Amino acid sequence: MTVQTPNMFEPSGISTFRREFGSPAVAVTGAAGFIGSHLVERLLHLGCSVIGIDDFDPWYDPTQKRRNLLDVVGNPNFELVDSALDHATAREAFSQSSIVFHLAGRPGVQDSWGEGFVESSRRNVELTQRVFETSLECEVSRVVYASSSSIYGSGATSLEVSPEPRPISPYGVSKLVGEQLAHVYRNQGLQVTNLRYFTVYGPRQRPDMAMHRMFESTKPDGPVFVRRGDGRQRREFTYVSDVVGATVAAGFVTAAANETFDVGGGSSVSLQDVMAIVEQLSGTAMRTENVATPAGDPATTVARTNKTSEVLGWLPEVELVEGLRRQWEWHRQRVLSEAPLLVAD
Ligand SMILES: NC(=O)c1ccc[n+]([C@@H]2O[C@H](COP(=O)([O-])OP(=O)(O)OC[C@H]3O[C@@H](n4cnc5c(N)ncnc54)[C@H](O)[C@@H]3O)[C@@H](O)[C@H]2O)c1
Repeated sequence: MTVQTPNMFEPSGISTFRREFGSPAVAVTGAAGFIGSHLVERLLHLGCSVIGIDDFDPWYDPTQKRRNLLDVVGNPNFELVDSALDHATAREAFSQSSIVFHLAGRPGVQDSWGEGFVESSRRNVELTQRVFETSLECEVSRVVYASSSSIYGSGATSLEVSPEPRPISPYGVSKLVGEQLAHVYRNQGLQVTNLRYFTVYGPRQRPDMAMHRMFESTKPDGPVFVRRGDGRQRREFTYVSDVVGATVAAGFVTAAANETFDVGGGSSVSLQDVMAIVEQLSGTAMRTENVATPAGDPATTVARTNKTSEVLGWLPEVELVEGLRRQWEWHRQRVLSEAPLLVAD
């Protein structure tokens, strides 16, 4: 296995990146979201000009999304398209872009059941088809598609097994359809690289996600943390800057064309252990309420990242305790700065 060092997609590798790729123009869909906003920052840092598209879906508080972009809104190399990604918007943005990073969607396993699937279909399936179709039309060099470990269902349990995609939630199905659409559009000549992200955490994490809810519950007036299941379920948690590193590499490394990669943090940890770290960091015992394991929640997820490292020259760098410490710092700052936003909503 050959792993390039230093990683040119990390801030320390900026000059290598510029020598290799110059200052490409790229588009990021879902730019104001948790992962998308970090990706925009990294791409700008690397010298790209970035068109970010986001419709500020009110599924969770759009004010958080506005805050996510505060450090980039004045950057002359960044343009924000505050709109749903319809065909005309996509055409306008993609015709100026060599790479499209497609992160927009409706994440969240639990909300994809029942009527929720209408939005999962609209924002994960229909939108992804539109992104691929328009990218082909605009002769974009490559699309990087943010897929999910949820496509594996209960199958990604160890490094030894090579799981078949077999989702156990409507959300997982919607993300897998995205991968299948990628296959269809590859046959038409579009380059698409799929990244299967495993539970991403870090500053700006979505409010529906477990770690965010845990930190919220440590506030004096915070809500009770609703623990789904017995806490022994294991997840491959992936720190957001590592996800961003893999995503940038998937856009620029030639050999990544038309490949699919797992993006995981390097170890699978139980929810119980995460709760203990959160309590230690915050110095507060969490108030919890236990509910049964909901449908669609796998017992274990394990990412197989050998190929990811080999092809992308990438390795996860941030250990869980350090990553949680950074998320905790963000959480504290956020509480302190919950003053009204000056950016129009
Ligand atoms: N966070 C994770 O752990 C995780 C894991 C696996 C996969 N993913 C995938 O990564 C992507 C980003 O996830 P996230 O956690 O940052 O979610 P997020 O909800 O914070 O970001 C998604 C963004 O897409 C925007 N959006 C939705 N529909 C849109 C539309 N029609 N037009 C324009 N913008 C639209 C939303 O407003 C939001 O800001 C998603 O596709 C998700 O399925 C995330």
